[in-house]
Amino acid sequence: MSKRFYITTAINYVNGQPHLGHGYEAIIADVIARARRSMGQEVFFLTGLDEHGQKVQQAALAEKKYPQEYCDELARDWQAFAQKLELTNDDFVRTTQPRHKEFVQATLAKLHAAGHFYKASYTGFYSTREETFLTEKDRLPDGTFDASYGEVLELKEDNYYFRLGAHQQWLIDTIEANPDFIAPSYRRNEVLGFLKNNTLEDLCISRPLARLNWGIPLPFDPEFVTYVWFDALVNYASMAAAHAPLNLWPADIHVIGKDIVKFHAVYWPIMLKAMGLPLPKQILVHGWWQKDGAKISKSTGNIIDPIAVINEWGLDAFRFYVLRELDIGPDGNWTDAGFRSRYQAELANGLGNLVNRSLSMLKRYRAGVVPARSHELAADAAKAADETRALLKQNQLQAALQSIWGLVTRANQYVDQTAPFKLAKDPAQAQRLDEVLYNLAETCRILAVLLNPFLPGTAQKIYGQLGLTDLPDKLAAAAWGGLTAGHTIGEPAPLFPRKDV
Ligand code: MSP
Repeated sequence: MSKRFYITTAINYVNGQPHLGHGYEAIIADVIARARRSMGQEVFFLTGLDEHGQKVQQAALAEKKYPQEYCDELARDWQAFAQKLELTNDDFVRTTQPRHKEFVQATLAKLHAAGHFYKASYTGFYSTREETFLTEKDRLPDGTFDASYGEVLELKEDNYYFRLGAHQQWLIDTIEANPDFIAPSYRRNEVLGFLKNNTLEDLCISRPLARLNWGIPLPFDPEFVTYVWFDALVNYASMAAAHAPLNLWPADIHVIGKDIVKFHAVYWPIMLKAMGLPLPKQILVHGWWQKDGAKISKSTGNIIDPIAVINEWGLDAFRFYVLRELDIGPDGNWTDAGFRSRYQAELANGLGNLVNRSLSMLKRYRAGVVPARSHELAADAAKAADETRALLKQNQLQAALQSIWGLVTRANQYVDQTAPFKLAKDPAQAQRLDEVLYNLAETCRILAVLLNPFLPGTAQKIYGQLGLTDLPDKLAAAAWGGLTAGHTIGEPAPLFPRKDV
C-alpha cells in the first residue's frame, strides 16, 4: 500500500483547558491535512494528549484527584475541543493508552539492549516547572535562575542516560543535507547554530520513582519511570505502529511551536536513528501568540477562550482570523479589535457581501436560474486556483488566503463596474446581465472549493445556497464552468451576519 501523508500536532499537556495557542496549531495541521486530501493525497492526521510527567501529576494533586482520573476528565474536554474546531484528525492519541505505553516500553528495551543507555549519578539544579536539570549556562548574571523555571532545587540522583553526543555530527550533516527538514529556514539556522557551537550532553531519559511516579515504568529497571519527553515524542511512532497497515512512517510533517524545537529537531531525530527508523520529512515550526502585546497567561488572566470566541462569532471566523493574521513562523498578537476588523472587512463585507449580493441578484432577476456559461472572470479564478494550489503545497496558508481574497476583491469590483442593478432596468441589456450573473455565481462556487480546507463550514454553506448538494473535496473542482445553465440555486442568506459593536 502506498504511503499516506502523515501529519501531526504536538500532543498537549493535560494540565488545563485548551487555549488559543493549542487551537492555532491544531487548525494549521487541519488545514494542511484537508488541503492535501483536496489535492488527491491520502492523509493521516494525528493529534492528542501528553498525559504523564510532573506537570500533570502536580495538576492532579492540586485538585486532589488520581492522575488517571484527572486525565480522563480533561481528555473529554480536549476531545470536545477538537470537535469544536472540526478537526479532521484520524486518531486521537493519549499517552496513557496501553497501545502507546507498550510501544514505549518495547522501544526502551530495544535501545537498552543495543547499548544506547547507561546509568550514572548526577548532582545538579533541577527546575520543577520545566522538568529538566539546568546547566551553568541557564544562570542569570547574578547567579540565580530565571523565574520562568519556577522552583529550582539541587538534586543528586541516579538515572539512565541516552548517548546523544555520539550522533551530533551525523545530525548536523543530516540537517545540512535536507534543507526542508526544519522550516522556516531561520529555525533551521538556529538549530544548526546550536549544534555547531555546543557539545550535546547526553539525555536523561528516566526519573526515579521517589520523585515522580506518574510515568511509564522503565522495562529494565522498576525503580524508574520514563522521562516525559521521551515518552511523548514516541507517540508519533507508536501511532504509526498502531495503524501499521496504513504505512504512515516516516511522518511528513510535525507541526510544533517554537518552544519545543530542540526536542523535535535534536532529540527526536537521534532517538529515531537509534530506533532504526527514518526521520520525519519536516518539522514545521509556528510562532507564539500573545494577546494585547503580552504573554498569554492563566495567572494574569490574559487569555483568549477559543470556545467563547467560536460561540460568539462562529468557527470559521476563528479559523480565518488565526490563519490570515499570522503566517507559520513569526509570533502573533491577538487583539479583539483586530479580530472584529477582519471579521467586518474581509468576511462580512468581503466574502459574505459578494456571495449574498451575487446570489440575491440571480434570484431576483432570473428567478435563481443559472444563465448560459460566460468566461469573463475565468482567468482571475484560474489564477487564484493555481496560486492556491502552489501555495498549499508549500504550506503557505496565509498567502493562499491572500490569493483567494484577491479573487473576492476582484469579483466585488466586477459587481461595482458592471452594475447589474442598472442592467436589470434595461431590457436591451438582458444578455449582458446574464453574463454578469453567471460570472458572479460561478466565482462564488469556485471560492467555496478553494476555501474548503480553510473554512469548511462556509464552503458548505455557499454550496448549499448555490443549490448544489455535494461540496467537492477536490481542488480540481475549481475549474471554471462547473455551474450549468438551467440549474436553480437555493436560498441566499448572510454568511457572516454583521455585528453591532
Ligand atoms: N506536551 C508538550 C509537547 C509534546 S510533543 C511530543 C507540550 N505541550 S503544551 O501543551 O505545552 O504545548 C503544545 C503546543 O502548543 C506546542 O507546540 C506549543 O508551542 C503550542 N503553544 C502553547 N502556547 C502557545 C501560544 N501562546 N501560541 C502558539 N502556540 C503555543 O509542549
